[in-house]
Amino acid sequence: MYDFEMIDLATVEIAFFFFLFPFLFSLSSRGRFGQVHKCVENSSGLTLAAKVIKARSQKEKEIVKNEIQVMNNLDHANLIQLYAAYESRNDIILVLEYVGGGELFDRIIDENYTLMELDAVVFIRQICEGLQHMHKMYILHLDLKPENILCVSRVTNKIKIIDFGLARIYKPREKLRVNFGTPEFLAPEVINYDFVSFNTDMWSLGVITYMILSGLCPFLGDDDNQTLNNILACQWNFEEQEFVETSKEAKDFISRLLIVNKSWRMGAAEALRHPWLSDSVLHHHLYTKKTMCRSRRSSCVPMTDS
Ligand SMILES: *[C@@H]1O[C@H](CO)[C@@H](O)[C@H](O)[C@H]1NC(C)=O
Ligand SMILES: *[C@@H]1O[C@H](CO)[C@@H](O)[C@H](O)[C@H]1NC(C)=O
Ligand SMILES: *[C@@H]1O[C@H](CO)[C@@H](O)[C@H](O)[C@H]1NC(C)=O
Ligand SMILES: *[C@@H]1O[C@H](CO)[C@@H](O)[C@H](O)[C@H]1NC(C)=O
Repeated sequence: MYDFEMIDLATVEIAFFFFLFPFLFSLSSRGRFGQVHKCVENSSGLTLAAKVIKARSQKEKEIVKNEIQVMNNLDHANLIQLYAAYESRNDIILVLEYVGGGELFDRIIDENYTLMELDAVVFIRQICEGLQHMHKMYILHLDLKPENILCVSRVTNKIKIIDFGLARIYKPREKLRVNFGTPEFLAPEVINYDFVSFNTDMWSLGVITYMILSGLCPFLGDDDNQTLNNILACQWNFEEQEFVETSKEAKDFISRLLIVNKSWRMGAAEALRHPWLSDSVLHHHLYTKKTMCRSRRSSCVPMTDS
C-alpha cells in the first residue's frame, strides 16, 4: 500500500496544488481506498503522506470526516498521526505522518528476514500500547490486521497502526453493531452482529500474534464460509509444527485473547502486564535461546491491491 512509484509531477491533478499549496508532491502509489502520495511540506521540508479519498456524496464525506474526528483524538507514537486535511468537491485529502518501512505482513512473510520471538514481543507490545491509548480515548479500531500495521523503517522494529477508516468512538450505552472487515480477522461478536467493545480489538490482536509467531492464520478455512464457521466455533490450536519452539508464555498470551466471550479476554492494559510482554527474565531467555518465529511459509495471503 505504501510502496511508492515515481510519477511525473504533471500527472498530479491541479486541484491538489490548489488545496495543498504548502506541499510539493513527488511520488505516488495506489492504496486500497484511494491514492497515497508522498509529499514534502515546503516550509519545513517534512516528508508526509497524502491519502486522497474519493468522497462525492454527503454520506461518503461523513464517513471520511468520522476518520478525521477519530484521528484528531489520537496522539501516540504507535498510531499514525494526522497532520492536516483538505476537502475538495470530489475528494478529501488526509495529510499524514509518512511511514516508509512497509507493512508488518511483508516482514512476516519475507524469507530473508529472520524473525525471532523477541521481535514478535516488541511488535505486539507496541500494538498493545497503541490500542491501550485508543481505548483510553474510547476509540475502537475494529479493523486491526497485519496490513494495517506499518514498520517505521526497514532497520528498526518500530511500528505504527494505520487506517482508522472503520474506527468508532465507543459510547457505553450505544448499541454499536458492525459487519465489515476481512473474514480471517473478524471477532465472533462481529460475525454474530452482536455488540462490539474494546475487547473486539483484542481478539484481532490474538489473531495477529498467532500469525507473527507462526505465519499461519488460526481460523483460515477453504472458503470464507468455513473461516467464519471456524471463528464462531473458536476452532484453533497450536498443533502445527510452527509452534514447536514457541514459548509457553506466548501460547498463554494468545489463549487469553482468542476467547469467544469478549468479557473473558484480556484488555490492553492486562495484556501489557502479561509475562510474555513484561517479563524481562523471559525476554533474556528468548534472546539467548534465539527462539525463532516459525518456518518460512505462510497460509495467509492477504488480498492484493487492485
Ligand atoms: C512550494 O513549492 C512549489 C514548487 O517549488 C511552489 O510552486 C509553491 O509555490 C511552493 N509553495 C509555497 C507555499 O511556498
Ligand atoms: C531474498 O533474497 C534473494 C537474494 O538476495 C532475492 O532474490 C529474493 O527476492 C529475496 N526475497 C524476498 C522476499 O525479498
Ligand atoms: C455456508 O455454511 C452454511 C452453514 O454453516 C451453509 O448452510 C451454506 O450453504 C454455506 N454456504 C456456502 C456458500 O458454502
Ligand atoms: C460472557 O461472560 C459474562 C461474564 O461471565 C456473562 O455475563 C455473559 O453472559 C457471557 N456472554 C455470553 C454470550 O455467553
